[in-house]
Amino acid sequence: MARVFSGIQPTGQPHLGNLLGAIRHWVTDQDEHDCLYCIVDLHSLTVPYEVAELRDATLELATALLASGIDPDRAILFVQSQVREHSELAWILNCVATMGELGRMTQFKSKSSGRDSISVGLFDYPVLQAADVLLYQGERVPVGDDQRQHLELMRDLALRFNTRYGETFAVPEASIPKAGARIMDLQQTDAKMSKTGGTELGTIWLLDPPGRLKKKIMSAVTDSGSDVRAAPDKPGVTALLEIHSIVTATPLPVLEDRYAGAGYGTFKRDVLDALVAYLEPIQARYAELAADPAEVGRALGRGADRARSLAVPTMERVRDVIGLLPAPAA
Ligand code: TYM
Repeated sequence: MARVFSGIQPTGQPHLGNLLGAIRHWVTDQDEHDCLYCIVDLHSLTVPYEVAELRDATLELATALLASGIDPDRAILFVQSQVREHSELAWILNCVATMGELGRMTQFKSKSSGRDSISVGLFDYPVLQAADVLLYQGERVPVGDDQRQHLELMRDLALRFNTRYGETFAVPEASIPKAGARIMDLQQTDAKMSKTGGTELGTIWLLDPPGRLKKKIMSAVTDSGSDVRAAPDKPGVTALLEIHSIVTATPLPVLEDRYAGAGYGTFKRDVLDALVAYLEPIQARYAELAADPAEVGRALGRGADRARSLAVPTMERVRDVIGLLPAPAA
């Protein structure tokens, strides 16, 4: 059993990229590993946000994760800011990370470009992310492809800390799926589906009703040909094939054979049906859970208590090896 840790930001409901790139693997990992899943609300403070919406967005995301199959009795589901040790360890790791390595992060470059005021938090974002995982001795981190560089930095920080102060942290490995690690925007086929930067029509949300799914899938960008096959010169068709393949658990070549000569119309209608069938049970469960937000809040409270009981011993060890006095008993 490996210790698994992953996180997601509460900036709106999950999209299909989050679901296929990360969350569905979190669900299967619960059966085999010792898992912690974290709603990283402190990370969402790094760019301008609506204060009035953050609390609701956090609860809605927790509801969406439960609806997607995260089981709070098997995995620890919790909110980052409810376990204060994340911030404490982030500060200590700030004194191990360098300006140079943080300045090379491509997500920082893209998220900061075009902004006139960039928070120190945005620059420091990957250090807090490293603290999230190292705090729990995380070994395996299931994420989409866009987190690759942050995971490399996390490993570097763990190794540097261990070398400087003595073995303290497990050195985590990224677990990036072969299929679905980069689900593309259906309108901008050279950009990943994203919560903030994508097109409205090209982004599929977990709670999109069938009518909206139909509009999005039927208007998805393809190309002027009619061949249903995955190829670099057919990014739109490839993206739809990949979605179809994952949600129906059908190998891609089988789908290519099935739709040979069928044309885009038939293919898109089948993608739509498959997607509706995949999302409908999640949406039905969401509606049930959303009727009792207090219960979701209680599940998060229990998750935070369990997470904290794992975080505290790591922090005791960290304080000891770096020369701080022990923390007074809480
Ligand atoms: P976030 O909230 O942007 O995304 C959550 C997860 O979804 C994956 N993902 C995608 N996968 C496939 N295709 C896409 N288009 C797509 N878009 C997003 C992301 O790779 C991610 O796995 N920094 C992280 C949150 C975080 C974290 C952590 C993750 C904070 N601390 C510790 C792992 C470990 C983020 O912003 O994810």
